[in-house]
Amino acid sequence: MTDSILLISGPNLNLLGEREPEIYGPEHLEDHVATAAAEAKRHALALRHIQSNHEGELIEAIHGARGQDAAIVINAGAYTHTSWAIHDALAAYDGVVVELHLSNPASREPFRHTSVIAPVADGAIVGFGGLGYALAVEAVARLLSSH
Ligand code: DQA
Repeated sequence: MTDSILLISGPNLNLLGEREPEIYGPEHLEDHVATAAAEAKRHALALRHIQSNHEGELIEAIHGARGQDAAIVINAGAYTHTSWAIHDALAAYDGVVVELHLSNPASREPFRHTSVIAPVADGAIVGFGGLGYALAVEAVARLLSSH
């Protein structure tokens, strides 16, 4: 079986390219998904992607990864800072979890300094813009090969 990664994009990330480009860059979400998919292919990993602006859909996607995907890479957008329901869904998932952000939330407004995802993630890649998508997949590949 090919190991697979579920890449999850949370609210407002569908607006990348138009949304605050001075913070999030000019690329569109599809560009980042293509970067992640190319990196996954380089490591012989499959990658599927889902974007939703709805907390429940994100939770159901995490449930769907149980027993299905070896890893989740998640940029949960602002739900990162608020969603204990996403925290709990990730806690019930036993694969590798990488938290991902384009910006560096720690250098921004105080409400972004807390991540409720961090306690249930193996690690986080933040602040490197689109490069983070390749780095997150690389981290997954290395973690999976050392398991
Ligand atoms: C983000 C950071 C979050 O604080 C913000 O709400 C986002 C994007 C990032 O990728 O930098 O929507 O997750």
